[in-house]
Amino acid sequence: MKKILVTGGLGFIGSHTVVELQNEGFEVVIIDDLSNTTLSVLESITEITGKKPEFHQMDTRKKEDLKTLFDTHKIDGVIHFAAFKAVGESMGKPLDYYENNLSSLIYLLQEMRDRNLDNFIFSSSCTVYGQADELPITEKAPIKAAESVYGNTKQIGEEIIRDASNAHKINAIALRYFNPIGAHSTVKIGELPFGVPQNLIPFITQTAAGIRKELSVFGDDYPTIDGTAVRDYIHVVDLAKAHIAALKRLMEKRNKASFEYFNIGTGKGSSVLEVINTFEKVNNLKLNYKIVARREGDVTAAFADTTIANQELNWKTEKTLEEALESAWKWQLKQG
Ligand code: WQD
Repeated sequence: MKKILVTGGLGFIGSHTVVELQNEGFEVVIIDDLSNTTLSVLESITEITGKKPEFHQMDTRKKEDLKTLFDTHKIDGVIHFAAFKAVGESMGKPLDYYENNLSSLIYLLQEMRDRNLDNFIFSSSCTVYGQADELPITEKAPIKAAESVYGNTKQIGEEIIRDASNAHKINAIALRYFNPIGAHSTVKIGELPFGVPQNLIPFITQTAAGIRKELSVFGDDYPTIDGTAVRDYIHVVDLAKAHIAALKRLMEKRNKASFEYFNIGTGKGSSVLEVINTFEKVNNLKLNYKIVARREGDVTAAFADTTIANQELNWKTEKTLEEALESAWKWQLKQG
């Protein structure tokens, strides 16, 4: 049974990916520092799949701990989620973000280099494109100057991986996520934002649950269908399955270069108001919201051209926005 190391494997996207890895017959070793999740997610994964992944609480900045982990396991592939990811927070803590997100990546790649390991999947982001000149966004779209420190750590991270894969045996794929949302159909795992949610969907569900008084819609004066900003909201389970498809591409040596990258979205853009209206409809409720000023750093619109990912990964999204928003609400209700 092939063994896959998943860093940040108890996080939102990581936990859903671990479930899909186990469903596909992979053995999983999770490392997570629990800075943005809780240990209960490990039990939830076990309840869903009936198999308890091996877990080590670990800070990926601790080079010696990483070395010990690689010394004691035969790792066949690595999926690297562990990173700080709050866009707004990153502007106030640039050195923490560069240290954590980049040194963790470098230490992981050094361990792979030293052991001639080759399959590496990297959690990247559509923020590398900034406000793309053309929509939908293809992988040929130019990388623009990052609008945030967080986005810059993803851009620099991809460059580090590209150079490492050119120089060493490492074969790598970066998945450039659009906007992951929703929860597993069992409602046992989902998004667990600590503190005031930065992202739209958890703020919507917490508002509907009465935890937040009302949702602020950041601007309705964009040049879009209804003035609110447009994004590509992808169900987290579809996103998780894209990681399996990418890992299989590398393990079966179908990759066409030592470093590849793919846009992972639905290919469909939805405005904030369309998301709100859909959420209200599928969950049969009214949401309390008001229009306020634009949020600094937001782009008008971003949604993926998924042609290359569909073809090369033999993967496409199967779940709808409605299913994602229904599962997000069911997950919120379960939080009590
Ligand atoms: C979506 C839309 C907001 C909150 C970020 C990161 C990206 C990725 C996904 C990590 C925007 C609007 C939001 C609110 C609102 N994260 N909004 N009121 O900014 O597209 O992407 O999260 O990889 O890297 O940049 O996602 O959910 O914050 O915002 O009106 O309270 O919802 O203006 O148009 P974003 P988001």
